Amino acid sequence: MAHILIMHGVNLNMFGMRDPAHYGTETLEDINRRLAELAQELGVEVEFFQSNHEGAFVERIQQACTDHTDAIVINAGAWTHYSYAIMDALAILRIPVVEVHMSNVHAREPFRHHSVLAAVSRGSIAGFGVNSYLLGLRAAHALLSSSPTV
Ligand code: DQA
Repeated sequence: MAHILIMHGVNLNMFGMRDPAHYGTETLEDINRRLAELAQELGVEVEFFQSNHEGAFVERIQQACTDHTDAIVINAGAWTHYSYAIMDALAILRIPVVEVHMSNVHAREPFRHHSVLAAVSRGSIAGFGVNSYLLGLRAAHALLSSSPTV
């Protein structure tokens, strides 16, 4: 069974309490529950990781080089826009990476328009709230399947 790592970056543990206009009212736990349900439907295994510490986040990505992770779905939060350390760590991997964002980052402040992770991701999904994560998981699953249709 494919093993997909779902990574939530800085401040994303605050979903549910944070700016509901952009991030809705579901908590990270709710989002993970929805992802676990979809994973069951798709027949994949999901693992969740959240950290507010960039070093811990980088170390979890490094671990994915050798721990049989098949794909990563990542919302790096604000690190998306400036963390070359996370970009470099993802660049080491030989597995597909799907970037997701709850909000439509392109319709927000200019600093959110650029993602340093986009160049090391297979694609990105932004603006659909919790569905961005669900679509991201479907995309990762499709990339791992013989017929890559989402
Ligand atoms: C975010 C968008 C980022 O710009 C922001 O810093 C976040 C959340 C999103 O999911 O929309 O923390 O990644």
